Amino acid sequence: MVKAVVLGAAGGIGQPLALLLKANPLVTELGLYDIVNTPGVAADLSHISTPAKVVGHLPPDDGLAKVLTGADVVVIPAGVPRKPGMTRDDLFKINAGIIRDLATGVAKYAPNAFVLVISNPVNSTVPIVTEVFKQHGVFNPKRIFGVTTLDVVRASTFVAEIVGDLSKAPSIKVPVVGGHSGVTIVPLLSQSSTPLPSSVDQGALEKLTYRIQYGGDEVVKAKDGAGSATLSMAYAGADFANSVIKALKGESGIVVPTFVHLTADAAGGEALKKELGKELDFFSAPVELGPDGVKSIKSLGKLTDYEKKLVEAAIPELETNIEKGITFIAGSK
Ligand code: NAD
Ligand code: LMR
Repeated sequence: MVKAVVLGAAGGIGQPLALLLKANPLVTELGLYDIVNTPGVAADLSHISTPAKVVGHLPPDDGLAKVLTGADVVVIPAGVPRKPGMTRDDLFKINAGIIRDLATGVAKYAPNAFVLVISNPVNSTVPIVTEVFKQHGVFNPKRIFGVTTLDVVRASTFVAEIVGDLSKAPSIKVPVVGGHSGVTIVPLLSQSSTPLPSSVDQGALEKLTYRIQYGGDEVVKAKDGAGSATLSMAYAGADFANSVIKALKGESGIVVPTFVHLTADAAGGEALKKELGKELDFFSAPVELGPDGVKSIKSLGKLTDYEKKLVEAAIPELETNIEKGITFIAGSK
């Protein structure tokens, strides 16, 4: 029995994500929460002939408490998306408070759930969730994840395009590490499971890296004021949730990049800090998932000189983003 909950379930990501979770046969209960429209979304999804029982709640009548009670996995895409010209950090002003309040609900009503944070800026919203959990005395670093899967999905697709065979996209694995914004997104293309063709010289490699780092901007620009990636994010979020659920149910050997607190695996986290040469609290690294959440944090492996420079460039922005989330909660006390 797995109860999955989506907070922000009526939104551009929330609705297709809820659809994909309803289609997941491992999900037996699906709770939907938003400040608007969840009864309608839940009624609609409830007619789909898959196992999950669907319920929709709104804030009145303790909706957040009701939806979260008994949750195993809580996915959070609540908050505002970017418009052209904005950075993810520009969303902090509005989304930080939304995430603080939702995390407070999760800490109270589902403190042992796996929390999957999609809302931007991920590099700051994950520290916010962590600090709220600490305040409530329920912080378990193994169970809080920043969802960076869209960067991995984009890397697989763009590499498949370069290889000239989109049918390979689902099987191409490229670790993308660091964080989830611009320079903090670090694709390790030298470790692509399908090597890049020899025609990809340093210039082409840099272009591909840039496209993965700024893939979000491509969508924001194309949507022209109507928001950011929703459908590809729903796909990526459902894929990551499925990995977490499979691990929770005992499947072993699942390794995926995700933004985690580096104490989630003390030994792996310390080793990674040594590799990075920095005392960072959070980093998106390849993580092995288990029934209790993070089982181990893996090394980034052998990096090329170019990838080492990308990691170095990511660290200062990551530090600033992480500190911003922590300071916000310290100031909210
Ligand atoms: P959206 O505006 O379409 O939907 C957001 C939903 O959140 C709305 O339905 C809104 O009512 C709801 N909401 C707002 N405040 C709430 C609250 N206090 N409680 C519950 N629900 C609340 O936006 P979207 O396109 O779905 O994007 C959502 C977030 O996801 C944005 O912050 C966006 O930047 C982020 N995002 C992250 C990634 C990633 O890779 N991690 C990818 C795409 C988008
Ligand atoms: C993305 O990578 O598509 C998301 O983080 C949304 C955005 O603002 O670009």
